[in-house]
Amino acid sequence: MPRRFGDGFGHGHGHGHGFGHGHGFGHGFGFGRGFGHGHGFGHGHGFGHGRGFGFGRGVGHGLVVALALLGGCKKGGATDPAPPPVGDGGAPTADAARALGGPILPPAAPVPPPPLGLPPLPTDHAPTAAEVELGQLLFFDPRLAADGTTACASCHDPHNGLSGDEPRSQTAAGKPNLRRTPALVNLAWHRELGWDGRGAERATFLDSHAVGQLGQPLDVGLGRLLGSPTYRAHFDRAASGRDRLATATAALWAFASTRYSGAAPWDRYEAGDRAAVPAEAVLGYQLVNGKAQCATCHAPPLYTDLAFHRIGLITSPDEGRGLVEPTQAGAFKTPTLRGAAGRRPLFHDGSAATLDEAVAWHLAGGRGQGADPSVVDPTLAVVTLAPDEQAALLAFVRALTPAPAAGAAATPALPDDVPEATP
Ligand code: HEC
Ligand code: HEC
Repeated sequence: MPRRFGDGFGHGHGHGHGFGHGHGFGHGFGFGRGFGHGHGFGHGHGFGHGRGFGFGRGVGHGLVVALALLGGCKKGGATDPAPPPVGDGGAPTADAARALGGPILPPAAPVPPPPLGLPPLPTDHAPTAAEVELGQLLFFDPRLAADGTTACASCHDPHNGLSGDEPRSQTAAGKPNLRRTPALVNLAWHRELGWDGRGAERATFLDSHAVGQLGQPLDVGLGRLLGSPTYRAHFDRAASGRDRLATATAALWAFASTRYSGAAPWDRYEAGDRAAVPAEAVLGYQLVNGKAQCATCHAPPLYTDLAFHRIGLITSPDEGRGLVEPTQAGAFKTPTLRGAAGRRPLFHDGSAATLDEAVAWHLAGGRGQGADPSVVDPTLAVVTLAPDEQAALLAFVRALTPAPAAGAAATPALPDDVPEATP
């Protein structure tokens, strides 16, 4: 079978009529394969920061596969999707993959859009599809950790709203954490990471977080993962000129910051579906925004003010926000009420076993651990509610938690070509 490889600007040539076609300023690599006269087409399309590939296969008397690989295309999104493959499937052949020195990744799933009910995204929120997909793999991959068994997802448990299911998780270095693992939801709007908000610079936060939680620097774990041709292809696609560490932190952030909690029954109610919530939830909404004063801190539509408050949790020795602002010792970042019914325990110290307990704590003015009222945020007053009002308030908070989407918590298929760890 005649075969030629072509290297050029968006042109591959082979026997038969195959061509690769790239958009942007790319270095195109095309590869045609066929006999007689086949017709092929290839389209490169930019994925976010500009890696693309396209393929086509021949119709007629032969088979032509043309691949165009682009670098440096600055267009976001798949602006020019490849036409549907003709014939039996149209996947690139193993030969094609080998010719390029690694596996051909199927196009990354589109970046998830924020669901109903959430505010407009901050303008600096620009994750690419390739980053999100790589970030998801890294998030679930225990081979990034020193012990080979702890992944981000071990603590940020997808079955528990991406939060910790115990008050103090064990790090990969075998040490208990001081704080409960917070839920990774709607972080795109967070300017400061951590319960104390010490992480104003995301990449720096994630780097040092990884050392603490995974037991070794990210770059050490990456050294092992990049022995995998599949991971290398993911990194090439997501890198956009960055080194592997910067690519990995951008990817982890892209994944974490696109975990949204929205489209809850209450959002559907507000969008006009009056049957979406039980009638008492409407009274609950009024209480949260009125008499119970929850919305002062858990302000809609994110149901957090992203600020720091003392709510009387004093037994665990933890200065909280005091690390950043000495006058705010004992204050912690307000968690969102979105998704709160889908995670437990609650609070930074995991001291509320259930949602009901967490709500009762607030209504009692945060005095449950004997805190002096003068150190509790003045907005957190003792609020007396009739039993039906309490039930209504809880019904409202529950209506802020969407039903889990089928398969949403599933672990992705991790690359199976990662070399064994070297002792
Ligand atoms: C052993 C448990 C554990 C592991 C593993 C872990 N985390 Fe965390 N994560 C925590 C805890 C505990 C906090 C709260 C830290 C603090 O407030 O000081 C946290 C906080 C965060 C935050 C800030 C959230 C917020 O609300 O501000 C992000 C983002 C995050 N983790 C991402 C990750 C990523 C990505 C990984 C994997 C590289 C990871 N975590 C691995 C326990 C863990
Ligand atoms: C003064 C600000 C403030 C007010 C008012 C307030 N909260 Fe909170 N709430 C917080 C902060 C801060 C936390 C986290 C505290 C911590 O863990 O240290 C929190 C935590 C929670 C949690 C646990 C969420 C999680 O993921 O751990 C729930 C549930 C909650 N609040 C519900 C309510 C309800 C219901 C009301 C009204 C009755 C209310 N809050 C009023 C500040 C406030």
